[in-house]
Order: sequence, then structure tokens, then C-alpha cells
Amino acid sequence: MTYIFGHRGSAGTHPENTMISFQETERAGADGIELDVQLTKDGEVIIIHDEKVDRTTDGKGYINNLLLKDIKKLNAGAKFQNGQFKAEIPTLNEFFEWFKGTNLFVNIEFKTKSISNYELEEKTVAMVKKNKLEERVIFSSFNHYSLVYCYRLAPEIETAPLYAEGLFMPWIYAQSIRAKGIHPNYRVIPDELITLSQNHGIKVRPYTVNQDEDIKRFLNCNTHAIITDFPKKAKELKTV
Ligand code: G3P
Repeated sequence: MTYIFGHRGSAGTHPENTMISFQETERAGADGIELDVQLTKDGEVIIIHDEKVDRTTDGKGYINNLLLKDIKKLNAGAKFQNGQFKAEIPTLNEFFEWFKGTNLFVNIEFKTKSISNYELEEKTVAMVKKNKLEERVIFSSFNHYSLVYCYRLAPEIETAPLYAEGLFMPWIYAQSIRAKGIHPNYRVIPDELITLSQNHGIKVRPYTVNQDEDIKRFLNCNTHAIITDFPKKAKELKTV
């Protein structure tokens, strides 16, 4: 059985990393949500992908230079499909308030640079624990130091390194950083490495799997999960 995770919610059909996108993912019958977290200037954990607000909102500037109260005035739907959706940038707290009432998993990706003071990781782990969501959270990042830091803080929360180039025996690497999964770019994970990784107890969740033929390939080789911009379509392909 392959789980379906909506990438930034349902980013192919709704503005990425917004509550309407997350709610659509649940409506689509997906199993999980992937989202990105960063810190505002005043230290709030918010959900947004880029370092700047420019690409997805009607504002400008680096997130770490903006206060939450100003970020909240922006429209995170402004650049998606002629602005037909209006949405705020959510905080992780707001997300959890809704998420607690669902049966979904969430994959929280830390958008951290290689040098970090780990404030984002510490605040996120504390929120997960406060809400008792440890069993439904997976941490991922391209910065694997973030993941090891989280593992040391909360070994009960699953971690999974993101990577975009082929790795030799990825399950060995995952085990070496105490990760329970790997999140490779879908182009760099052949079927035999999926099978071998999973036979060694490492769950494989490739990103971002959007084309029908790619979705079918991962379903056919029993990949643990796929991360897709089109959770509704993926769910439909799964039942064919
Ligand atoms: O987590 C999967 C995917 O989101 C990783 O790439 O660039 O979208 O953060 P990116």
C-alpha cells in the first residue's frame, strides 16, 4: 500500500502551503500533507517554502526580515491562478489546531541553511510535543544536521533526509543518521533501491511525483508513499 502525501498541500490545484490547500488534501482522501516551515523576524514558526514572500504573495522581502503581523496582511493566494483564492500564510500553531482533528500525517520540512542556531527545530519539536502529535509527524530537510538535531531532541519523531542526487546504498546512510525514511527526488530512486531500502526498514517517499506514469511506477513497486502536487489524482490512480 502506498500512502499519498500532498506536496505543500494540494499545490497543483490550490495555493501552496495555505490552509485551503491543506483542507483540499484532506478532502481528496490523501494520507498526509507535506509543508515547509521557517521563522519570522519575531521568531514565529510559519508555513512557507521560499526565503522571500515575493513568488507566492502580494508582498516583498525576506521572511526573516518581516514581523508576523505584517506577514499576516499578505495574500498567499495572490500569485496562484489569477488570484482566485485568497489565503493567509498560516503559522504552524494554526495548522496544528486544524490538523489535530484529522487523521492525517504531516511531513514538516525545515527550510534551514547549513548553518543554523536550531531555533526553528527547537520550536517545532516543542509544538509537536505540546500537541502530542509525535506519532503523526515526519521531519525532513535537505539540511541533514537539522534532522540529527531533532533526533537528539525527540528520538520518537521520525526523520527522513531529502536528497536530489543518486546515493549509494541510501538505507545505510539513513541508518547512520538515525532516520527511518528517505525522501529522494523521484528521478534518482530506481525501483531496486526502493525495494532494498524498504527491505532494510527504511521507508521511501519520493518527491514530487506528478505525472500519471511516474505515480503508477511508484504504486507498482509498493513505495511507502509519494509526495505529489495532485493528491486527488494520485488517490484516483491508486484505486484504478
Ligand atoms: O519535501 C519534498 C519537496 O518539497 C522537496 O523539495 O524544493 O519543494 O522543498 P522542495
